[in-house]
Amino acid sequence: MKQRIVVFSGAGMSAESGINTFRDSGGLWENYNIEDVATPQAWEADPDLVTDFYNMRRKNILDASPNKAHLAIARLETEHFVRVITQNIDDLHERAGSKDVLHLHGNIRFSKSSGPDQEDAYFPIDGWQLTADDLSPKGFRLRPHVVWFGEAVPEYDNAIEIMKSAEILVVIGTSLQVYPAAGIIHYASPGCKKYIIDPNVDELAVPQDFIKIKSNVGTGIEKFREFL
Ligand SMILES: NC(=O)c1ccc[n+]([C@@H]2O[C@H](COP(=O)([O-])OP(=O)(O)OC[C@H]3O[C@@H](n4cnc5c(N)ncnc54)[C@H](O)[C@@H]3O)[C@@H](O)[C@H]2O)c1
Repeated sequence: MKQRIVVFSGAGMSAESGINTFRDSGGLWENYNIEDVATPQAWEADPDLVTDFYNMRRKNILDASPNKAHLAIARLETEHFVRVITQNIDDLHERAGSKDVLHLHGNIRFSKSSGPDQEDAYFPIDGWQLTADDLSPKGFRLRPHVVWFGEAVPEYDNAIEIMKSAEILVVIGTSLQVYPAAGIIHYASPGCKKYIIDPNVDELAVPQDFIKIKSNVGTGIEKFREFL
């Protein structure tokens, strides 16, 4: 029988594709101050630095490929209704074939206006480089379509609705430390079967009704499929 599966993924999902996570040792942020690259204040202070930082991330993402867990999640669609909510700004779920992906923190392949006309207009970026010459229709500089620390999460309410619809929830590769994103797991219904896949799952604050799969994403998804 087709079931409604919701996948909630984080940076660990893409680690095996060669994209650095957030907090693991060797993670991306060890080399940068968040305040210097991922806040509205950083953009105000030095838009070129912020643009360059995300250009490098975009290049890295374009060079990467979906890993076997991205592919396995996409394949679940042949037997189930699958919706993906990702905290990741990469597009590896889509490139693996997942058809229904909500990006809670934006999508690095797109830009938006940094001016008051930003609304909900997102512009695809051709290649890896955004430049100071890329402007919105009203002439404001374009910035990456990424939700920075201290900014609202426009897709939050949509994510909650998706979460409420889950019969099965799979949380994968997230430390559940970045809020408000991490809070959406609490909107899954009491009757929903819940799984979490993470090699460090014992160290994470996970509600009691979750089945813990202590594993990396590739092996973890295979174990999850055995539960179905
Ligand atoms: N790929 C990306 O787009 C990317 C990369 C880095 C950070 N971010 C952003 O930074 C924030 C970080 O929060 P987060 O909770 O997603 O990430 P996080 O870095 O806080 O946590 C990553 C989690 O992944 C786990 N992990 C590491 N390798 C794994 C593997 N091979 N298999 C399974 N799990 C593995 C770690 O144990 C950890 O719990 C996110 O909101 C996201 O927007 C995105």
